[in-house]
Amino acid sequence: MNNNNSSIGIDAIAFHGPRCYVDMAELATARGIDPAKYQKGLGQLKMAVATPCEDTVTMAAQAGRKALEKFGIDASEIGMLIVGTETGIDHSKPTAVYVHELLDLSQNCRTFETKHACYGATAGMTSAIDWIAAGRARGKKALVIASDIARYGIGTPGEPTQGAGAVAMVISNNARLVAIDSQTIGDYTRQVMDFWRPLYSKYAFTDGHYSIECYLDALTGAWEAARENAGDDTRFTIDNIEACFYHVPFTAMARKAHFRHYEIDFSMNETGENLSDEQAQQRIISSYQKRVSPWLSINAEVGNIYTGSLFLAMMDYLRQNKNKGDANISLFSYGSGCGASYFIASVHPDAAQFARLCDPSEELNKRRKLSVDEYESVLKDTENTDLHENESLDPARWDLLENLLYLGTRDHQRMYVSN
Ligand code: HMG
Repeated sequence: MNNNNSSIGIDAIAFHGPRCYVDMAELATARGIDPAKYQKGLGQLKMAVATPCEDTVTMAAQAGRKALEKFGIDASEIGMLIVGTETGIDHSKPTAVYVHELLDLSQNCRTFETKHACYGATAGMTSAIDWIAAGRARGKKALVIASDIARYGIGTPGEPTQGAGAVAMVISNNARLVAIDSQTIGDYTRQVMDFWRPLYSKYAFTDGHYSIECYLDALTGAWEAARENAGDDTRFTIDNIEACFYHVPFTAMARKAHFRHYEIDFSMNETGENLSDEQAQQRIISSYQKRVSPWLSINAEVGNIYTGSLFLAMMDYLRQNKNKGDANISLFSYGSGCGASYFIASVHPDAAQFARLCDPSEELNKRRKLSVDEYESVLKDTENTDLHENESLDPARWDLLENLLYLGTRDHQRMYVSN
């Protein structure tokens, strides 16, 4: 790292997702679609389904609790809490304040919510890094949590790209997992109508194919900006990057992104080799197989968790990390609408000792499979939730074992139960 804040970054990480999922092959069959389209074309195997008792708050608080407990961090060490979400639970009151109470954080903790579609948590994370780098943290750490529920609705093209979950990250000046080089962050913003959710809708609207174009254009724009910031820094050359992480709305999107990343890198770093189209294609595929696809298996089992998707892919890498030394990685965060950042980071040489703590597979293996009928009824129940000042939800209806649940509203106020 060539800045003075070389070890500011991710000190702890944890995932929490809903208890239920639906199988993508079964969903495809129910929609009269070839399962290969969902499994191979989109690259999704299962999709997490949040019941009405699991919301952005319950998932964020449980991910936050796991990150603190697993990595031995006391709540009193947290001086800033940011929850990135585009599926908040109130037009005014931040999700983060509920999470603050549930995690028993200090009253002197700076607490807020960030929203910019899937970019929200990245915006939060860079604010936390700047807060520490500016010397305002006074030895404290920041807790940044990405928490979202992606819903497009039954029978829509976006339906197979739904999902839900939260990723919590502790940001400190002595990061045990990943140091982020904030000097290299390249940003990109453009007003586009690729994906949005009007105030009156529980479901997202999207111009799906256009959103893919916007994502790839933003990748080019953010990468060019980062590259300019970095000058002739050789860490930006794709061949010098051990793992490339992208925002993952569905895993095949990460493949499209890597192909674009490779093309722009190649055009910048012309090697003078005279490759046939077939040879060039083979190089890109093997770069993807080496740097991207090995870390997409959790995303394929969970679906789009919006602002946490990028970090879920990074968790997949961290859980498989086998002490490879000081690895150079790249991250691309995209939020529709749109905003994006590309940046370089470095995995701590000893991060492999925390690999087991970064692995959510035990939790994922305990999930309950819903039939397509059950999944549809959960979605309809969700449509009928949060509409009135007094509503009571019964978790027994969905066989939930969680120790934190949303129970509905009383006198317009949300009620949570924590065991
Ligand atoms: P679609 O039009 O139903 O699918 O919707 P398609 O026809 O484009 O097919 C998808 C892929 O499956 C294609 O592969 C097909 O060839 C293949 P590609 O050509 O792209 O490589 N396929 C098959 N493969 C094997 N066997 C078969 C078969 N049939 C077809 N039998 C779409 C796809 C993604 C547009 C839709 O699901 C959608 O609208 N999703 C929501 C929007 C989205 O995820 N956009 C991604 C970029 S924007 C973003 O990431 C931001 C976001 O996360 C929101 C935020 O920022 O908050 C969404």
